[in-house]
Amino acid sequence: MVVNDPPSRDEAKAAEAAREAREFRNALGAFPTGVTVVTTVDADGRPVGLTCNSFASVSLNPPLVLWSLLVYSPSMNAFQNASHFTVNVLSAAQRGLARRFATRADDKFSGVAWQAGLGGAPLLEGAVANFQCRCVDRYYGGDHVIFLGAVEAYAYTGAEPLAFARGEFGTFTASRPEDAC
Ligand SMILES: Cc1cc2nc3c(=O)[nH]c(=O)nc-3n(C[C@H](O)[C@H](O)[C@H](O)COP(=O)(O)O)c2cc1C
Repeated sequence: MVVNDPPSRDEAKAAEAAREAREFRNALGAFPTGVTVVTTVDADGRPVGLTCNSFASVSLNPPLVLWSLLVYSPSMNAFQNASHFTVNVLSAAQRGLARRFATRADDKFSGVAWQAGLGGAPLLEGAVANFQCRCVDRYYGGDHVIFLGAVEAYAYTGAEPLAFARGEFGTFTASRPEDAC
């Protein structure tokens, strides 16, 4: 019979930290959000983008929005140096794009229909809305960098937005109190 060594103090600490991180993520997942792909271009003019649900409105006058990016993200360099970014709000029909842009692939844009917006940042075809922003500030927030954008142009449609909650994609259904009777 093989008797395993008990976990070391460091292993036990790491396991506890992982459990706490999972719990925190689970709690955050109770807050439903939309799903966006935030885009920009790198120094060579190549499109860069990632799936993001940390997007939030900040101010109406002036119009400001924010989102945050993991400091270790391969996309960080491009966003740190870009004058502009675009927040593309995905439609319910764009789950595939949400998955694709949540990976580290180099060819995320291959086969994706887009056109260059302000500062070259890609506007994705079929998005429910887009916000074209000039990057006006960045703040460190723990393991993320918060990007603050001044909205210079925006557009929206009546298409159904993609939703995200408890780690799953879905759709939003509006309901009124009288519907419950
Ligand atoms: C629904 C969803 C929301 C996400 N939101 C964020 C976010 O707000 N910030 C972030 O840094 N990563 C977020 N991610 C993870 C990134 O999309 C993922 O790490 C991606 O690989 C980053 O692109 P990069 O590796 O090319 O930098 C999210 C992923 C999903 C599926």
